[in-house]
Amino acid sequence: MSIRIAPSLLSADFSRLAEEVESVQTAGADFLHLDIMDGCFVPNLTFGPPVVASLAPRCSIPLDAHLMVNDPDALVPALAEAGVARIAVHAEACPHLHRTLDAIRSLGVTPGVAINPATPLVFALEAVAWAGFILVMSVDPGFGGQAFIEETLGRIERLRAATGDPDLDISVDGGVTSGTAASLVAAGATTLVAGSAIFGAPDRSEAIRELRKAAQQGEDG
Ligand code: DX5
Ligand code: ZN
Repeated sequence: MSIRIAPSLLSADFSRLAEEVESVQTAGADFLHLDIMDGCFVPNLTFGPPVVASLAPRCSIPLDAHLMVNDPDALVPALAEAGVARIAVHAEACPHLHRTLDAIRSLGVTPGVAINPATPLVFALEAVAWAGFILVMSVDPGFGGQAFIEETLGRIERLRAATGDPDLDISVDGGVTSGTAASLVAAGATTLVAGSAIFGAPDRSEAIRELRKAAQQGEDG
């Protein structure tokens, strides 16, 4: 499976969002990862559906929304309306996860289940029948530029084996760099979300190339 690279807009210059989006599109990104935070589920606040709706017409790559909020159901309709392709909700925030995933799918958007580093894998596995992808956090969500949590590698390996599905997209988010990408892909990750490693790099095309090269090494074993 070819590995997808998803730059996370969280590490962009927020005063120049449209240009920042354009720069990673030109650099060869596959998705644009949008971190939506409410200051409650995570201790940080970013942007919501109105900003996504303004950016969407400027985006030529699919939008990948990651909801780090206590009430994801409240945001899903507006994000679908804005034209996002995928929405990941945290299992920890959804008491009725089946209903939430179903609602996302009914709006024509691919639903995903996100799990925090200390959340048992079974939270994602139980819901995988209704999800189009799993988003494994490799940092505690809330901020860009945090250190990669090593135990994530074993978690992805076990998750991939437990799904028994080589084609299910397992995205990984947090501390992804050209130093961690090869082992993540070898463990079974298929989408690499990277914020600081791409937006913080002097040359974003080069940063994405480096990530792809590392991912290829991981695929080749
Ligand atoms: C963290 C976000 C990530 C973040 C990753 O809560 O979900 O998408 O932007 O940033 P880096 O790649 O810098 O760890
Ligand atoms: Zn994210």
